[in-house]
Amino acid sequence: MRIYKVGGAVRDRLLGKPVTDIDWVVVGATTEEMLAKGFRPVGADFPVFLHPKSGEEYALARTERKSGRGYGGFTFHASPEVTLEEDLIRRDLTINAMAEDDQQNLTDPYHGQRDLKDRLLRHVSPAFAEDPLRVLRVARFAARYAGLGFTVAPETLELMRQLSDSGELQALTPERSWKEISRALMEDQPQVFIEVLRACGALKVLMPEVDALFGVPQPPAHHPEIDTGAHTLSVLQQAALHKQPLTVRWACLLHDLGKGLTPEAEWPRHIAHEFKGLKLIKAVNERFKVPRDCAELALLVGEYHTHGHRALELKPSTLLELLQSFDVYRRPQRFEEFIAACEMDARGRTGFEQRSYPQADYLRGAATAARNVAVQPLLEQGFKGPELGEAIKRERLKALKAYKEAASA
Ligand code: CTP
Repeated sequence: MRIYKVGGAVRDRLLGKPVTDIDWVVVGATTEEMLAKGFRPVGADFPVFLHPKSGEEYALARTERKSGRGYGGFTFHASPEVTLEEDLIRRDLTINAMAEDDQQNLTDPYHGQRDLKDRLLRHVSPAFAEDPLRVLRVARFAARYAGLGFTVAPETLELMRQLSDSGELQALTPERSWKEISRALMEDQPQVFIEVLRACGALKVLMPEVDALFGVPQPPAHHPEIDTGAHTLSVLQQAALHKQPLTVRWACLLHDLGKGLTPEAEWPRHIAHEFKGLKLIKAVNERFKVPRDCAELALLVGEYHTHGHRALELKPSTLLELLQSFDVYRRPQRFEEFIAACEMDARGRTGFEQRSYPQADYLRGAATAARNVAVQPLLEQGFKGPELGEAIKRERLKALKAYKEAASA
């Protein structure tokens, strides 16, 4: 049997990037031989094994044929006769379809090296269409390598368009889609992920609510970039520049969905877009079975981001309601993430990128003032049950009044 390093490990070594996990392909071996060497099978009818010591994935060289719609519809043909070239041709991109032996000799039948040099994400063969998830993968690689100058080859974008138009994307499971989306959002240029999905028509299939923001104007005084879609992309870009976590990036992407529902006659104003957007945010969260922390923050940011921007003008009672809505006493981290998302929103406007955002510290100070209200003295005064709750609220309101006065003095 012959063993080769394949895929991302080869690509990233050639790009001079750190290699995290290594995938191997095994040519000329049978399942029985692998088992005899102590490899552990990953699944019953999937020709992939884990190395007994390193735990890395070793796949038998295989050809892949699609036998039906959706992810279940695959048949594999793995046998010792399948060649390395046959295994590589079924892969997604030429830059992912190179193999390397233990002497670092490269097998590159589909010109991955040339495309690395030309900074092109190009599909290997028509077999690309056998897995519609690849539309998301290519957009994710575009987001990752945009800083190096990579773009999607026009013919690959065309194939992605055909796949998007064919309805195949609907067959993807929420889990597989979310894995790609969440990884893409954590890349250096997550806005490129959305741009590429939009360019091939996948965005209107996967997230029509986000797609609908393009072409929707906002008031130029607050939003010199005008277009709501362009603004959303800038907010996402700011979130990446500021190394925000996934929760914040997800909330950034969805915060303005309500603006896509404004009747044209009301443009460029978007009255109550915060509330109108909630049902859309909920729908997107459910579509991809988004993890709770991301889903929750997106809804809260959607509802309250304009409160964040107006923090300095809010009445103490409104400030208190805001803090209560976030359960800031038990969930301080979530409130920090809200503040971060508001700040990214403010910076994601043309000309405002470097502008300071005093609302952030003001909100932090308000949370601290409310949190510092001591419960013990109230207990000692004999407050219990709902009355205790009311008393705590009263004291917090007092604290916030004092805080606001001190801040504006
Ligand atoms: N692959 C593919 N089509 C997919 C998934 C994977 O062709 N839908 C192939 C590619 O050759 C890829 C390899 O399997 O390089 C390994 O896949 P994976 O580990 O998911 O991706 P990497 O390319 O290693 O990229 P990453 O750095 O994102 O892990």
